Formats: sequence, C-alpha cells, structure tokens
Amino acid sequence: MTDTMIGVIGGSGLYEIDGLQAAEWVTVKTPWGDASDQILTGTLDGVKMAFLPRHGRGHVHSPTKVPYRANIDALKRLGVTDVISISACGSFREEMAPGDFVIVDQFIDRTFAREKSFFGTGCVAHVSAAHPTCERLGDACQTAAKDAGINVHRGGTYLAMEGPQFSTVAESKMYRESWGADVIGMTNMPEAKLAREAELCYASVAMVTDYDSWHPDHGDVDISAILATLQGNSNNGAELIRRLPKLLGDQRAPCPHGCDRALEYAIMTAPK
Ligand code: ADE
Repeated sequence: MTDTMIGVIGGSGLYEIDGLQAAEWVTVKTPWGDASDQILTGTLDGVKMAFLPRHGRGHVHSPTKVPYRANIDALKRLGVTDVISISACGSFREEMAPGDFVIVDQFIDRTFAREKSFFGTGCVAHVSAAHPTCERLGDACQTAAKDAGINVHRGGTYLAMEGPQFSTVAESKMYRESWGADVIGMTNMPEAKLAREAELCYASVAMVTDYDSWHPDHGDVDISAILATLQGNSNNGAELIRRLPKLLGDQRAPCPHGCDRALEYAIMTAPK
C-alpha cells in the first residue's frame, strides 16, 4: 500500500477547491517549463490533495496553449497517484443533457498543435492507450457524483478537438453520426495520454454545457447558455471532489488495471 494523493485538474469554471486543510499554493519546477499555474496542496478528510487550474487562475491559457506536459509532470513530482480531470464539454446525445456529468472512458484525438509525449529524444516509448482511463478511479467518480445528486452517465467517447473555435454543423454531425462520439471538448488530449505515460491513474469527468451544433432544436453553441450552465456544473464538480477522499482512502493498493505500471508493458528504446 502507498499513500494516496488525489490530483484534480480543474477546467473552465473550477479554479480552486474549498475546505483543504493546510492549504498552500506551491510552485513546481519541471523540465517541460511552467505548469498552468501554481498547485493548491493540502488535505481533505486526511487524504493528500493537489489542485491545478488547467487554464490558470484568470483563465489565461487557451486549450492549445495549456502546458499539458508540465502539468502532468508537476503533479507526478508532487506525489500524485490519481488524476481526476474536470472539464466542460458539448454533448452529441439527447440523453446527455446540459448539467449532466459523463465519466468518459474513450477518446478520439483530433488535436494537432500540442506536444503529446514525454518521450521522443534519446528515449522512445510506446505505451498502450487502448483503455486510456482508470476504471477504479471512474468507479469512485461515479459514486461521488451519484452521492452528490448529479445526473451521471458512466462511459462515453470524448472527441478532443483543437479549437479554439467550436465545430461546424457538418463536423458536429460527422463526429456524432459517423464517428460515434458522445461528447466533445478541447482539453482531455493529450492530457490523458500523458497521464498514462507518467503511470498515473486518470479519470475524466466531462460536464455537459451544451448540445454542440448538431441538435435541430438547440441551434448553435451559445456562449451565454454555456456560461449559465457552467456555474451550476462547477458547484456540482466541487461537490463531487469533496466526496472523493473518503471513497478512495488515504492508502492505495496498486492499480488493478495496471495504470501505475504502464511503462512495464511499453515498447521502449534504452536511453543512450
Ligand atoms: N466545451 C464546452 N462545450 C463545447 C463544445 N460544444 N465543443 C467543444 N468544447 C466544448
């Protein structure tokens, strides 16, 4: 057993968490440059926590400019074992309505302007991304969401787009009808792949703000509607996080799905 440390990457609308004991914003140095912001550390119900606002306080980094490698590396250096990604998303499914949460389990990565790996110079590694999220952590997020009274869906495919513009109607219909995506957002990739390379358990909680642009009755993505839903979603996201430490406990057994040993199964070249 090892100490649990829960890392939370907060998305749009979630820039800090309340109620931490011994709360302190710390700066973590990484070889990949600065993280999005300082990281808020402390304990919640006796469990170590680290919170990082993905876009920085004041929302200063666009999805393309978020320093994904530095963020994951900084959390790893702090001793984080389990990463919960909280982010806003659009929905391709009628039943995944604004205000609902989706515990995503698959991704389609359509991003193209971001650094996607810790490996590439000197040491090359190919980790499996077949099952990019951790089921054990997903279970805890699902329970926490249900306990908080949130309408939560377990499983779903998240299409990660580059942005910053939202999708055209043609793209939205293609992602939904031909590609089978359930939700769309701009930030979970390469974050999830990097978490796997860093041997961190990763679960993604996608909070629905809109129906993207495919829905005949909802029109195009409407920023004022998104903002209205965002506030309620952020409050619910905070409620979910508050319940996680008790569910996960302060000690953890090795991940039953092998997330924390991903490099043991990777194809790697030895560094020179
Ligand atoms: N984030 C929230 N809604 C979104 C949408 N429709 N597309 C991409 N990212 C989003």
